[in-house]
Amino acid sequence: MTGELSPIDKAKFVAAKRAAEMVEDGMRVGLGTGSTAAWLVRHLGDRVRDEGLRIKGVRTSARTAQLAKQVGIDVISLNEAGTLNITIDGADEFDGKLNLIKGGGGALLREKIVAAASEEVVIIADAAKEVGTLGAFPLPVEVVPFGWTTTQMLIEELLVSADVMGRRITLRMNNGKPFVTDEGNHILDLHLSRIGNARQLSMALNQMPGVVENGLFVDLCDKVIIGYSDGRVETRDINEGTVSEDLIDFAETENLFSDI
Ligand code: A5P
Repeated sequence: MTGELSPIDKAKFVAAKRAAEMVEDGMRVGLGTGSTAAWLVRHLGDRVRDEGLRIKGVRTSARTAQLAKQVGIDVISLNEAGTLNITIDGADEFDGKLNLIKGGGGALLREKIVAAASEEVVIIADAAKEVGTLGAFPLPVEVVPFGWTTTQMLIEELLVSADVMGRRITLRMNNGKPFVTDEGNHILDLHLSRIGNARQLSMALNQMPGVVENGLFVDLCDKVIIGYSDGRVETRDINEGTVSEDLIDFAETENLFSDI
């Protein structure tokens, strides 16, 4: 199966596999959203099936919930879980301090709530997601539908004095209609090119009426696991200041997902 994967999918696959190995019996696990997180859910499903791993998964989107149930993970709500032992999720960008841009898949609100409820947040990514400064990826901002054009104008005003390079804002669309998040809101994508001060911008955005949450994850991520297409994985721990490397053997994972 892995032989048919593109290099980028192999990188996501091995990062997700390494992260799945960190999950222990009895844990309450936040399950991220996106293509990398989908590999994680499949790897965990595999461990549930083959090793009898018992975990409770908390979804960050309807898509993830559906996949998790399909692969045999017991899915509970965040209200039922209360707090989580670990959350494993993808990201659109991460920097050297492990600050992130998330929300490319539109799930940033639930993702941030779930991350904040977790003792440990692990981000899984391919190497292309690493940046020197956040901002090349458009920053998603979730806004309530009521008066969203006014909210957009207020954000435009805010950006005039913010430490950013670009200021263009677009409403995310889906099949010719405004995209609607799992929580019934819209997404404004902020094309900023460079974000000089992520913490300041995040706080300023969240003070604005109409803004529900933004895709800057500052000081939320504990570890990043970077996957490479040749099977190498690098784990960076921001709290310990450590970096470790592993090699995932694709041969051991042949036919892993033949049933998917
Ligand atoms: C979902 O809203 C996002 O935050 C994803 O985690 C992010 O877009 C990464 O997705 P991929 O793993 O598909 O690149």
